[in-house]
Amino acid sequence: MRVLLIDDDFNLNKVIGYQLEKNGYQVESSSNGREGIERFKKGGHDIVISDIQMPDVSGIEVLREVRRLNKKTVIIMITAYGSVDNAIEACRMGADDYISKPFGQEQLLFTIEKAVRLRSLQSENIELKTELTDKFRFDNMVANSGPMQNVLRVTQKVAASNATVLILGESGTGKELIARAIHYNSPRREKPLVTVNCPSIPNNLLESELFGHVKGAFTGAVKDRAGKFEQADGGTIFLDEIGDLHEELQAKLLRVLQEHEFDRVGGNRPIRVDVRVIAATNQNLLELVKQKKFREDLYYRLSVVPINLPALRDRREDIPFLVDFFLKKNYGGQSYSISPEVIAALKAYDWPGNVRELENVIERMVTLAADNTLTMADLPEYIQLEGHDPSSFSIKIPDEGISLDSVERLVIKEVLKRSSGNQSQAARMLQIPRHVLLYRIKKLGLE
Ligand SMILES: Nc1ncnc2c1ncn2[C@@H]1O[C@H](COP(=O)(O)OP(=O)(O)OP(=O)(O)O)[C@@H](O)[C@H]1O
Ligand SMILES: [Mg+2]
Repeated sequence: MRVLLIDDDFNLNKVIGYQLEKNGYQVESSSNGREGIERFKKGGHDIVISDIQMPDVSGIEVLREVRRLNKKTVIIMITAYGSVDNAIEACRMGADDYISKPFGQEQLLFTIEKAVRLRSLQSENIELKTELTDKFRFDNMVANSGPMQNVLRVTQKVAASNATVLILGESGTGKELIARAIHYNSPRREKPLVTVNCPSIPNNLLESELFGHVKGAFTGAVKDRAGKFEQADGGTIFLDEIGDLHEELQAKLLRVLQEHEFDRVGGNRPIRVDVRVIAATNQNLLELVKQKKFREDLYYRLSVVPINLPALRDRREDIPFLVDFFLKKNYGGQSYSISPEVIAALKAYDWPGNVRELENVIERMVTLAADNTLTMADLPEYIQLEGHDPSSFSIKIPDEGISLDSVERLVIKEVLKRSSGNQSQAARMLQIPRHVLLYRIKKLGLE
């Protein structure tokens, strides 16, 4: 580690320099603030140790300049005995720590090591946070198809607001991904995103889980406990599988949405929170409303902004991009190529489990593949079979050519097969009157 030492006391400079070098640091010394700053500008110092009181350019000015130039440099100030106020002021301005004269070698080394450790923890933290946010930046979500572009547009808009969002879509379509994207792209991103998977918690516990309880509210409630809504204060709560929410809890949720307050179980003092609600379900909520299993008023409160995630089979254009995305995401180091045939089969398959199923299939293929090329043989059999698109129909044209009559014969045969021999339907599919079809059948000898 490279240290820049700035002190107008020549002897102290020498002593500290010697001690640090003995302990593995590379030291560069400077006897005044101005020169110190100039040296720092040349770069490469991990740590700056500067006296506060120096004639001319003071340590505080050094500190201000170093911090301005580099947010990551560890800065330690040296103060005269008894001038702690200055030192505290320096820490407020961005110094990592201070050390008062006189000090021994151990104290100096300890102060430096502690400051370096804290800094690296801090920057790790910042990196983690950016990584987290990056992970849910919109451009890390595959959305090439028209329907997904629409979803993305709404998601982007709604992220900036506080509106309640209801995400609807089949299992595995990316509801949770969208919920996270909304939170991490919203002004609430620094505050918690609390997820509650409603059906995974027994009904009798869910109320206390969501709203907390007071001591003695029920057997086992040995002390006050905050619920998920309180934990999410200032942030977002994601209520997953909301369709399963018990009637009684539906009423309580409605109250939070309307009045932004609730009672802990057994409590009689309403608690106010500032929480953004995102709910999701793969059930048909309107149908549940019709069947009186879900409160209509709650439905409308929740679906201020509804986001409908289309099933993968309704946006097959996304499939090649998703495949590419998953190959890059999970097996980063390696590059895989995939034959066009495989892509075609993947595009033709119906994907009842949507994107999650596709992700699993890719993972399985990569695990089992003999080399870096994914071929038809690596595809699960059910996709090879079902992946055959029933609406496609191919004709092989031999090198010597093919007669138009035989093409017509093949097409008419295929259409008759699909209409189970129903001639009116077959004529409609071929967009010709029925008598024309009958004429051609006779002419081609298809009877
Ligand atoms: N558009 C997308 N781009 C990239 N990955 C996606 C996309 N949509 C979904 N995924 C991935 O697919 C998997 C399933 O997504 P997610 O858990 O969000 O689905 P879900 O709708 O919440 O499913 P369920 O209803 O089963 O809970 C996740 O690993 C997610 O990252
Ligand atoms: Mg989910």
